[in-house]
Amino acid sequence: MLNTDQISFRQATADDLAQIVSFTNSIHLQEDDQSIPTNKHFLFNLEKWLKEELNNSLSLFLIADFENNFGQTNSIGFIGATTVINDNGFLENPTKGVINLLWIEKEHRKKNIAKQLVSMIEDCFKENAINVIECSFTDTNELAKKFWSNMHYKIFSVTARKIISDTTK
Ligand SMILES: CC(C)(COP(=O)(O)OP(=O)(O)OC[C@H]1O[C@@H](n2cnc3c(N)ncnc32)[C@H](O)[C@@H]1OP(=O)(O)O)[C@@H](O)C(=O)NCCC(=O)NCCS
Repeated sequence: MLNTDQISFRQATADDLAQIVSFTNSIHLQEDDQSIPTNKHFLFNLEKWLKEELNNSLSLFLIADFENNFGQTNSIGFIGATTVINDNGFLENPTKGVINLLWIEKEHRKKNIAKQLVSMIEDCFKENAINVIECSFTDTNELAKKFWSNMHYKIFSVTARKIISDTTK
């Protein structure tokens, strides 16, 4: 049985890029229904975007590390969040927090690790006077639906999509 005492959290560094790319690709593979073709340079472009995000002063990535009984440490999950500023004058507070990415390796799930990562990100937003946080997930992602509902995130908007087939053929 895994012991949560062996889990620790830290801010990601440039050295975590390859691991974050791998975790993010796992989220992609889980959520992608292949209704929209993926670019052939997907992984290269994903790495480029994540590298930029890791350097973005408005973004924050936290890593969950697991130390096994032999003292070896592995990263087993992460969260990626950013601050969006929409200064169109419509809102009293133009900033909102967005949690873009969240992944916990399968064998470490249901041990409140994601919950702790989300709490840390929420605290960070609170400290910066940001009181609106959003996240998005696909309608077929039952794990995410249950998890975010458990974390008191309410469905606020719905995206509808139609793939228009080529009628000239
Ligand atoms: C969603 C995900 C991040 C949850 O990670 P996790 O570490 O297992 O979640 P936690 O253990 O912190 O769960 C927090 C709460 O949700 C509950 N929960 C977690 N998984 C659940 C499940 N499959 N069914 C029901 N409840 C669940 C926990 O029991 C806990 O509830 P509690 O506060 O009442 O005790 C994980 O399943 C995952 O990585 N999924 C694939 C990626 C993904 O879908 N990411 C989200 C979209 S970006």
